[in-house]
Amino acid sequence: MMVGRDDLPWSEACERNRVPIARVLDELLPQRPQVLEIGSGTGQHAVFFNRLRPELVWRCSDLPENLVGLQARIDREGEGRLPDAIELDVMRSDWPCGPFDLVFSANTLHIMPWTHTPVLLERSCAVLANGGCLVIYGPFHDNGVHIAPSNEAFDRSLKARDPAMGVRDAQRIRALASAIGLQPEADLAMPANNRILVFRKPDRAPN
Ligand SMILES: C[S@@+](CC[C@H](N)C(=O)[O-])C[C@H]1O[C@@H](n2cnc3c(N)ncnc32)[C@H](O)[C@@H]1O
Repeated sequence: MMVGRDDLPWSEACERNRVPIARVLDELLPQRPQVLEIGSGTGQHAVFFNRLRPELVWRCSDLPENLVGLQARIDREGEGRLPDAIELDVMRSDWPCGPFDLVFSANTLHIMPWTHTPVLLERSCAVLANGGCLVIYGPFHDNGVHIAPSNEAFDRSLKARDPAMGVRDAQRIRALASAIGLQPEADLAMPANNRILVFRKPDRAPN
């Protein structure tokens, strides 16, 4: 994360990926949707989608150390519609009750240790409305096979930075999701060898 010209935290990648992500989210979002974002970072995605779909309620969240910058962006660019960001550590915090129509998280699973992924899936499922979906954006491999050399290099650079980081396995995520009743619905190719994984909570949760 860098600091932009306006002194707010800034991600160049967010500027590049926000339009293709928005196209996917737009299809998935119902009328007047309630959204929870996990690991909002700079808040650029939230600001962009809030302008695109002014009727949505997009709740940003992040670790305590990122909240000041995130809130500053919301205050300056949220057009009075974005709710205040909340502190949410996937492993530690109480999650908001919801229900949310959509839980969104971009570029977070490869930053968090792998042990966070099952927890993120379970808690997302718990706060989703029946029929709602979890949307995860980022780089993924399949059973250890990277979809591009650049993803493999990125995986190596993450692990050199911190051995707990690393590009995650879409197949393992799908198996974990299925086991808790989140149905894998889509696996969409995105620019720069990223993907969007979509999981749906059934209309009626199985007994
Ligand atoms: C690479 S940044 C991505 C930020 C933003 N979503 C984006 O696409 O630019 C990873 C984000 O995950 C957040 N994160 C890391 N560990 C977390 C955890 N345990 N719980 C919640 N968020 C976490 C970081 O604070 C950071 O904002």
